[in-house]
Amino acid sequence: MPRITFHKNGQVFEDEVKSGANLVVRAGIKQYPYPHLVYECGMGKCAKCACKVLSGGELLPPPNWKEKKQLGARLDEGFRLACQLWLEHDLELEQIPESI
Ligand code: FES
Repeated sequence: MPRITFHKNGQVFEDEVKSGANLVVRAGIKQYPYPHLVYECGMGKCAKCACKVLSGGELLPPPNWKEKKQLGARLDEGFRLACQLWLEHDLELEQIPESI
């Protein structure tokens, strides 16, 4: 099972999720990383779920067109949209409030 480490406001949260899990879907049913993950649409349209990947990003699939459209140059800084990621591997990510 993927182990997900989530940084927010200087705090670190960590838990395992099922293979193929989506963090926004999980937060929507009040599972980790609820209540720490900020999100809105769940559909790649608002970018509120943007997170900077700190490690494990090399195992993620390439950004899809929604991520390219919403994140633009921030993709190069390591940002991804949590709602567009179905997790198969360990991942460490940070949601930076001022970047939303
Ligand atoms: S929740 Fe809106 S883009 Fe991810």
